Amino acid sequence: MPRTEFISTGYYVPERVVTNLELEDYMDTSDDWIRKRSGIEERRWCKEGQGGSDMAKVATERALEKAGMEADEIDCIVVATISPDYFFPGTGVFLQRKLGLSEIPCFDLRNQCSGFLYALQVADAFIRLGQYRRILLVGTEIHSTGLQVNDVGRDTAVLFGDGAGVAILGPTDDEERGVLAVRTHADGNFAEKLWAPAPACIKNPFISHQDIDDMLVRPFMTGKEVFRHAVTRMPEAIHEVLDEAGLTLDQIDMVIPHQANLRISEMVQRRLGLSDDKIYNNIMRYGNTTAASIPIALSEAVDEGKIERGDLVAFTAFGSGFTWGGALVRW
Ligand code: COA
Repeated sequence: MPRTEFISTGYYVPERVVTNLELEDYMDTSDDWIRKRSGIEERRWCKEGQGGSDMAKVATERALEKAGMEADEIDCIVVATISPDYFFPGTGVFLQRKLGLSEIPCFDLRNQCSGFLYALQVADAFIRLGQYRRILLVGTEIHSTGLQVNDVGRDTAVLFGDGAGVAILGPTDDEERGVLAVRTHADGNFAEKLWAPAPACIKNPFISHQDIDDMLVRPFMTGKEVFRHAVTRMPEAIHEVLDEAGLTLDQIDMVIPHQANLRISEMVQRRLGLSDDKIYNNIMRYGNTTAASIPIALSEAVDEGKIERGDLVAFTAFGSGFTWGGALVRW
């Protein structure tokens, strides 16, 4: 069975930079509060009419160019997002159309901040089984249109941002390289600790004026509990994939954690005993972009030469669900 290799990566973030100072104009918050609690300095917000599929298209074009590939070499699309362009169909088919592709399958996964790792696990299985040879793996999120940018929603509105990251995956016969392990987990007992209660098909109608008046169409989060679980599960997930691959912490060259909060990343770093050059963070510039955060950070780290062929790279994520996971890749 072949292994799955990362052929190329790409990312796109909207041009509009929204600083913490700008947020002070919309709600009772401060640059100091946001920086101290989350490390975030600014984030990107899309423009009117721009969808997750538009951002993913640009990210894909960048990845294709880096790989010297044409779009029609892609034979499957797997998209992770909790902010689809429309309620249905999923973002995958819009991306497929915008890339000028037709009839290749488009999978849409959710799984929130762990979405990219869940999607990687699916794509890795497809490739190892020989079902597809060039999978476009996508994490894309537009949060700016779903946040309550006011005092009511300030606890989450300051944390999230927009962006897209992609990876093109394919089989390799090189036994030393590729995806070595991917593990995902979930615990639905904590579903309401970070969730959006509307729109909701469990209710009839699934969206009402009352929902909007009550500002239910936004993320609700029990921040401290999310924090506590994240800093436990993320290091645990890295140990799990290391054990599966028969490798040890000191062999890791780079950890790309989901960018939830710089304080979470710092605690994960401390718990794993990693030096500063072995963990990559960019939440300061983009905020939390949910399923897009790992592929954006990965793509940046590769572009900056911080990940090179042969390096051992670990991913870890935690988010709503609760869901979490880890992956290990010999680059
Ligand atoms: N600006 C200013 N004050 C704010 C604020 C904001 N944007 N949002 C909340 N506050 C206030 C609260 O109302 C509270 O005020 P009070 O003490 O008068 O009641 C105070 O700040 C402290 O709130 P609290 O929620 O206890 O802060 P915290 O220290 O737990 O930090 C988070 C909040 C969200 C930064 C932190 O809990 C966190 O990072 N959690 C994990 C979040 C995360 O990563 N989510 C995504 C996971 S994928």
